[in-house]
Amino acid sequence: MRLLTGIQPSGDLHIGNYFGSIKQMVDAQNDSETFAFIANYHAMTSVNDGQRLAELTMQSATDFLALGIDEQKSTFWVQSDVKEVLELYWILSSFAPMGLLERAHSYKDKTARGFATNHSLFSYPVLMAADILLFSPDIVPVGKDQIQHVEIARDIAIKFNNHYGDILKIPEFKVEENVATVPGTDGQKMSKSYGNTVNIFGEEKHQLKTIKKIVTENVAMEEPKQYEECNVYNMAKLFLNEIELIDLQDRYTRGGEGHGHFKLYLADVMWEYFRDFREKRAYYNKNQNEVREILKMGADKAREQALPMVEIIRSVTGIKY
Ligand code: ADP
Ligand code: TRP
Repeated sequence: MRLLTGIQPSGDLHIGNYFGSIKQMVDAQNDSETFAFIANYHAMTSVNDGQRLAELTMQSATDFLALGIDEQKSTFWVQSDVKEVLELYWILSSFAPMGLLERAHSYKDKTARGFATNHSLFSYPVLMAADILLFSPDIVPVGKDQIQHVEIARDIAIKFNNHYGDILKIPEFKVEENVATVPGTDGQKMSKSYGNTVNIFGEEKHQLKTIKKIVTENVAMEEPKQYEECNVYNMAKLFLNEIELIDLQDRYTRGGEGHGHFKLYLADVMWEYFRDFREKRAYYNKNQNEVREILKMGADKAREQALPMVEIIRSVTGIKY
């Protein structure tokens, strides 16, 4: 089974990103063939500062390696290091009807909100189709917001195949339904855009400050407390084993402790949980050349996969003459 996913290099990762997406990918490395890349061309639709994009790309690569992407088990690269994707992007453009792209939410929403849009935002799904179809994955794991993009990739592949034969593999998307939405400090879905995140790699003091801001119900210290709906509990449970979880539930129902105690506990277990990841990150941050080497090796591995497909496509389309 081959899995492929792209991740935009968009800054500080939070625990919603980790439990909702990164951990699934890391776990999948053990029983699937995994392809993961940093979608830096896609990020150009929102980051126009060159130095910042370059930094974000390196920091994302560093963070993903620290969090367990294993370059031996996975093929891990930066999108722009396999330029063949841009060639396929152009070729596929001829099989991407205007109407299909006009219906894409990513473009429609921004236009509706009055943003000045440009061609890269409009053709974003075609580049994403090229990312996918170049590597013939069986499955593309995505968040709900990306389902439509995978459907567009499928439509484009079917159109292409109708013209040139059964060449592109039609991908399936997979949404991890049983991964609960991680709540943010205000109880809404944790998201960068809501400013309610608890980041994975924050400073210890800053992290504690953020955790102290988590919204909780107002109950006197000695009273028993509900844990099911408590934001602190719902974050803490991500880090606990069964015995620790039951113990925490007891502490809630017993009374005698305030939410402040549970917040301190959350800060502690979270700090402990990410300790090894933090150390690995510090190592890679100090050894950025090693990260560059890993990315280069990943790009070579990815290109090896992509080239035979590009050759066939050049040949059937007549680009190879
Ligand atoms: P953000 O909402 O912070 O901008 P992204 O949209 O970049 O996050 O999400 C990247 C990945 O992390 C996606 O696969 C998404 O499903 C997952 N993710 C983001 N926030 C959460 C959350 N609160 N709970 C579970 N998964 C999440
Ligand atoms: N558009 C995806 C996102 O914003 C990132 C992405 C780019 C991607 N190319 C991809 C995801 C290919 C899966 C497959 O999250």
